[in-house]
Amino acid sequence: MTQWRKFTLYGHGNKIELDQLEDDLISGHRISALFCEIPSNPQLRSPDLRRLRTLADKYDFAIACDDTIGSFINVNILPYVDIVMTSLTKSFSGGSDVMGGSVVVNPRSAHFHTIFDAVSSEWEDNFFPADAITLSKNCSDVVSRVLKSSFSAEAIANFINRHPSVKRVNYPSLVESRKFYEQVKRKDGGYGSLMSIIFHEPTAAIEFYDNLDVPKGPSLGTNFTLAIPYAFLAHFKELDWAASYDVPRHIVRISVGLEDTEKLLRVVEKALGCISTNLTVSEE
Ligand SMILES: Cc1ncc(COP(=O)(O)O)c(C=O)c1O
Repeated sequence: MTQWRKFTLYGHGNKIELDQLEDDLISGHRISALFCEIPSNPQLRSPDLRRLRTLADKYDFAIACDDTIGSFINVNILPYVDIVMTSLTKSFSGGSDVMGGSVVVNPRSAHFHTIFDAVSSEWEDNFFPADAITLSKNCSDVVSRVLKSSFSAEAIANFINRHPSVKRVNYPSLVESRKFYEQVKRKDGGYGSLMSIIFHEPTAAIEFYDNLDVPKGPSLGTNFTLAIPYAFLAHFKELDWAASYDVPRHIVRISVGLEDTEKLLRVVEKALGCISTNLTVSEE
């Protein structure tokens, strides 16, 4: 396994950081690879893959992008990246009863042979046969499942976004980087099933989460809706650091499943209705 001697985190993934990367490259700094997600978890921001591709071609580095959250049913990033990485555990399976992952090395990549040889030299076929059978069965309706959950998620994100206790809903169509998601969105694709919610007040987040009548757990892309207090689960020992990247401690993440959209909207409406209305809104 290659050990990266040095890496730089561009944790905001915004234009300022991309300008910084470009300035560094212009001044002679060189990188081997850039890893990103489309969209990011849990900020749901999309990188400017078109601009990154231009930089990668000019300064000879590879782009490896994880499209698990967008899903390759919704987005097609192959025109811009050298490697597509996808967790098949999530929406590809949907069933939450099997794990798997895929790596696609873009045959059009200038780095194809180097990357493919490196991946092939380490790859072992150790996939348990029963898991392969389960994954193969589960994925047979992946297209309709991803489109349905994406459709519901968009409706739910827009609904939550209108509530006065909500400061911001992070969802690919509601964040500033929407245009970058749309650069790679398939014509009939949606915006994915994942969103995160930042409330004006921590107490509102707690009341909403505690009254949200859906299973609670850390996966995503499951056929059933899941919610988690993301920062507490993923960054418990580094909450201030996570907050500095727009992941405040009371952020609530929801992965929307295949339940009836109207029913889910009522579940969400009920939880929003449990938020005390006598809260004063404070600026963060
Ligand atoms: C975006 C993303 N990629 C990859 C993974 C890893 O997936 P797996 O559970 O298949 O190892 C996760 C897990 O949460 C994820 O959220």
